[in-house]
Amino acid sequence: MKRARVYVEAGPEAAGRRAASLVDAAVRANPESVLILPTGATPIPLYAELVRLHRETGTSWAGVTTFNLDEYAGVSPEDEQSYARFMARHFFDALDPPPARRLLPDGLATDLLAETLRYEAALDAAGGADVAVLGLGLNGHIGFNEPAPGLTAGTHVAALALDTWRRNFPELAATHPGPPDAHAPFSRAITLGVASILQARRIVLVATGASKRDAVHAALHGPITTAFPASLLQLHRDVTVILDGAAAPGGALAGDATDPGSAG
Ligand code: GLP
Repeated sequence: MKRARVYVEAGPEAAGRRAASLVDAAVRANPESVLILPTGATPIPLYAELVRLHRETGTSWAGVTTFNLDEYAGVSPEDEQSYARFMARHFFDALDPPPARRLLPDGLATDLLAETLRYEAALDAAGGADVAVLGLGLNGHIGFNEPAPGLTAGTHVAALALDTWRRNFPELAATHPGPPDAHAPFSRAITLGVASILQARRIVLVATGASKRDAVHAALHGPITTAFPASLLQLHRDVTVILDGAAAPGGALAGDATDPGSAG
């Protein structure tokens, strides 16, 4: 079995710079790269560094096609909490010229099933992803593929796990004591499925902070199970994991092992 390459960086910013250097190198090697991109707090330093490299070294994103992992269902791309706005704010608005192809699922599609099929077909038509950059949920979710007895291969509409919804929308959750119903805002998303993600030729998983340490351990060393979707990454032959010291299983010291090592 081919093990993941693991980088342990000094902190979240350094982890972001490491991830950005890999993505930037991929885009320079193939200016028509197809990328899958994440949202969340973790990749914010990654996008900041990609913007810096774009401005200061001239890396061109004009020919790159990007697919975001997910978008909330029923949410406008203009909504401040949409992933479309997140990507504009942290990355896309800083690209000059804006890349023509920056794709996210349409959260406002009236026919959500048709939208999932359209999005998956667009990824297929682009030839699949060269690199998928992923964050990691505390419960092992990737995109919005939440733990479940079975997972869906392709793009689909997913209900957020209750703990994910509470973590992502604490103010909203405070007003809803129980699980959100299907029509509660931000309770469902359109997400790439696990097969859509695993079909990427290369996967880069980024996780930082002590809260992610157990999840990183389970992803890299735990049993392969749909109860912890990130464990399925062990089935892929080209995975790079970028951590900070706090997220590293075994609590590697910051700056301890900046060279790739074995995942165990
Ligand atoms: C979110 C996203 C994931 C993301 C994860 C972790 O809900 N759907 O794609 O990787 O949770 O987010 P964070 O980086 O903020 O910890």
